[in-house]
Amino acid sequence: MKLCTLCSGLAAITALSLTSFAMAEAPTSVKTEVKAKYKAKNFDHLIGNVKGLDDELLKMHFKLYQGYVTNVNNASDQIEGLNAAEKNRSLEYAGLKKLFAWEYNGMTLHEYYFANLGGKDPLNEKDPLFIKIADDFGSYDLWKKDFIATGAMRGIGWAIAYIEPKEGRLINTWINEHDLGHLAGGKPILVMDVFEHAYITQFALDRAKYIDVFFNNINWSEVSKRFQDVK
Ligand SMILES: [Fe+2]
Repeated sequence: MKLCTLCSGLAAITALSLTSFAMAEAPTSVKTEVKAKYKAKNFDHLIGNVKGLDDELLKMHFKLYQGYVTNVNNASDQIEGLNAAEKNRSLEYAGLKKLFAWEYNGMTLHEYYFANLGGKDPLNEKDPLFIKIADDFGSYDLWKKDFIATGAMRGIGWAIAYIEPKEGRLINTWINEHDLGHLAGGKPILVMDVFEHAYITQFALDRAKYIDVFFNNINWSEVSKRFQDVK
């Protein structure tokens, strides 16, 4: 099944880029053994604990996330190698630099996403986040409606409830793929994956059903903690 043509293309570019550099003669100043800068987090506690979401889908999603971590480390190492080899004016360097943020955000957004899943209870009406939502949107239901509408937009990416840094407003944003649409300096509070791989093997094209399942399993204590950490 073809889940994301652009993702496959970018993965191919990464592989090609990394392979071609690996085949080049290594300059003496390049480190031959580099410790992984980032380690994949373990979210196995979600298996069996996200009601309505298949465990096999979650396991596939974990593997995909681990691939981002690997690519971030590889891209970082290759950029360092190109710098050491004084090849930082090359197309390869420029490609890796641009790809790095895409991979890094792919890694980090998945960590936010998995960490804000696995909850059982709704957001308490006395919780500071509930009060903030009501203040900024008029009611919890109006905020939820806007978040769902954001996540239901056509395309692949993320719906993120951000606290923006200038006025501290809560804003639901659409992120195209992993990189386009973030609010500079903002703090992600609630992160929902709406790439096709997050739901299509279980829900086919019924993204609304997936979003419903997502909402029933939000870990509100984690989301509220993110909000209160901003303050
Ligand atoms: Fe994903």
